[in-house]
Amino acid sequence: MGALLMTSTTPVPTSTPTVRTPPLTEPSGWHEIRLTVNGEPVTAPVESRLLLSDFLRDRLGLTGTHVGCEHGVCGACTVLLDGEPVRSCLTLAVQCEGAELRTVESLAPDDAPLTDVQRAFHECHGMQCGFCTPGFLMTTTALTDRPERPGATEVADALSGHLCRCTGYRNIRRSVGRALDETYGECAK
Ligand code: FES
Ligand code: FES
Repeated sequence: MGALLMTSTTPVPTSTPTVRTPPLTEPSGWHEIRLTVNGEPVTAPVESRLLLSDFLRDRLGLTGTHVGCEHGVCGACTVLLDGEPVRSCLTLAVQCEGAELRTVESLAPDDAPLTDVQRAFHECHGMQCGFCTPGFLMTTTALTDRPERPGATEVADALSGHLCRCTGYRNIRRSVGRALDETYGECAK
């Protein structure tokens, strides 16, 4: 057997570096979730990092949920998770396991009559381009679903999470007020 010669150009072995690499397949990377979307049971495998907004729009085809800032700032992507408004761009699909989800498509499906909230926005001209509208509709729906009429501060707080680049907000506030009046009766002036 020939001798192994070590010359000046032969690399000198050093200690073995510790390299941490993620496993090629991540067993927890996919999850099957079960939830209810607009009253329909849904079962779907989802990646753990999949955003709820992408799940709704790309996987379920529910494009009524609009995505604007993708940073939780504009409110356009708001949906109701167990009755509470959430930003679907900041929520992971896997967080909705077992939940009841409502999107803007649930408000007047097919040829059903408009809800009080939708009618109020229509009659009070609470929209122009409509990009922000699904988010406002869902937050206002959550307000009108409360057992008692929310106070002015609660309403202002709820709406403060929504941006509109068209209306100047006056007609949106009128729309929300009209929806609340329709739901709870006019409040004493
Ligand atoms: S797109 Fe989600 S808050 Fe703007
Ligand atoms: S109606 Fe255009 S952004 Fe609100």
